[in-house]
Amino acid sequence: MLFLAFLGFLFSILGLQCLVYTVVGDACVAMDEWVQNPTAHTALDDILPCVDNATAQETLLRTKNVSYQLVNVVNGVINNVVNQNFPPSSAPLYYNQSGPRVPVLCNPFHSDLTDRQCASGEVSLYDSSEVWKNYTCQVSSSGICSKRGRLTPQFYTQMSAAVNVSYGLYRYGPFLVNLQDCTFVRDTFTDISHDYCPGLWRYSQWIYIGLVIVSAAVMLSLIFWVIYARERRHRVYTKRYDARLEGLYKGG
Ligand SMILES: *[C@@H]1O[C@H](CO)[C@@H](O)[C@H](O)[C@H]1NC(C)=O
Ligand SMILES: *[C@@H]1O[C@H](CO)[C@@H](O)[C@H](O)[C@H]1NC(C)=O
Ligand SMILES: *[C@@H]1O[C@H](CO)[C@@H](O)[C@H](O)[C@H]1NC(C)=O
Ligand SMILES: *[C@@H]1O[C@H](CO)[C@@H](O)[C@H](O)[C@H]1NC(C)=O
Ligand SMILES: *[C@@H]1O[C@H](CO)[C@@H](O)[C@H](O)[C@H]1NC(C)=O
Repeated sequence: MLFLAFLGFLFSILGLQCLVYTVVGDACVAMDEWVQNPTAHTALDDILPCVDNATAQETLLRTKNVSYQLVNVVNGVINNVVNQNFPPSSAPLYYNQSGPRVPVLCNPFHSDLTDRQCASGEVSLYDSSEVWKNYTCQVSSSGICSKRGRLTPQFYTQMSAAVNVSYGLYRYGPFLVNLQDCTFVRDTFTDISHDYCPGLWRYSQWIYIGLVIVSAAVMLSLIFWVIYARERRHRVYTKRYDARLEGLYKGG
């Protein structure tokens, strides 16, 4: 029994050593392999939900296109309705808009979706809401401007909402696409395998020592239990033996 406990202890520390080294080592090797071979099909590709580069680029183009179209729609309204002076007869295009012209949005893309620089007098997606506030007017009960200004609060809200969507796509589209084609994961893994994998190896020693202590403790308690059980059996036996002797004396 004692011998078995000792054997178990030996096997468990050898086994644990293998396990710890294998798990830590495998994770590090797999990350390295995956980071260094962007196109090859490695073990990690089966568990990471990455799309291929072409699909990711397609998504990026679509988000750019939506941004581009939204800005165009808003600018269309500004140029054709808000900044025009209509006679009162041409309602609903006429709502008594007057005063300085509202600046148009800066479209961050050309029609071929390449990056575009803002022209002077254009307002960026980022601060258009702030700038346009200055061009809002007070409305009368009939819904037309009763004071100088070119945007009714309702117009302002709708245009700001459109800009918010467009800005969100413009600002976060590339980031989301990074997630999609796992560029982000790739960067993280590169960092881990450079900065932490060597440390993980060292750290695995500590995990290993901890596990050895645990298994030693288990072995010791097994040994004590065996000793205790033996001792108890011995005592019970002796007691019974004594009792029989006593009976013999009484009977005799
Ligand atoms: C994906 O393709 C684009 C061009 O199509 C290229 O600029 C980019 O570096 C590629 N990214 C990866 C991670 O291969
Ligand atoms: C953008 O989308 C519109 C309609 O969805 C499409 O007609 C146009 O060709 C697209 N532009 C680009 C550059 O893909
Ligand atoms: C809005 O108008 C005020 C006063 O007319 C001016 O001080 C402020 O700079 C303007 N804000 C923007 C964002 O144009
Ligand atoms: C139209 O706006 C002007 C100020 O630009 C104001 O004086 C006038 O009363 C408004 N007209 C109506 C019908 O509200
Ligand atoms: C647009 O987003 C800004 C903050 O990003 C927020 O303060 C504003 O209320 C939003 N406007 C609309 C119309 O959703």
